[in-house]
Amino acid sequence: MLAMNLIVSCKYDHRKIDGLMKDLMQSCRNDEDKNVRGIVSQVRSQLETVESCLFDHFKKEEQFLFPELANIGVSVEFGPIGIALREHRLIKNFLRSLDSLVTDLEQGNQTSFAFLINQATELLNFLEHHWQKEETALFELALMHISNDRLHRLELMRKFE
Ligand SMILES: [Fe+2]
Ligand SMILES: [Fe+2]
Repeated sequence: MLAMNLIVSCKYDHRKIDGLMKDLMQSCRNDEDKNVRGIVSQVRSQLETVESCLFDHFKKEEQFLFPELANIGVSVEFGPIGIALREHRLIKNFLRSLDSLVTDLEQGNQTSFAFLINQATELLNFLEHHWQKEETALFELALMHISNDRLHRLELMRKFE
């Protein structure tokens, strides 16, 4: 694969995480299957994958992209960076509640795949708004004001960190 720059790599994460969320919801829909335990353990591992991709992605933005934007004068407290940081916290809360729903399913507590799908749908909708805001505001700013060379170097620095 050609070396990606930081923005291309962030957009790629967005699409990848959407796909992982859809796979997870698809697994929940197999619940007419008799093998409920099997489904729950599949959903557990899919949720772990979503979590680790999201945490890596947030790190990429918070430790590489946002500071770089701050360097060119974008406020980190207000405006699109402030909003993005707040949304990252909300997304982490969402993940925690999905996590505890999966734990309920593992322990046979009263909950259902339908409810899990419902909560996962809410998270996916929230994520899609979050991606859209980033892609139309922050990523555009970065592409306009940070050289392609620098964006490539940031992506490399990130990998060797
Ligand atoms: Fe983000
Ligand atoms: Fe993002």
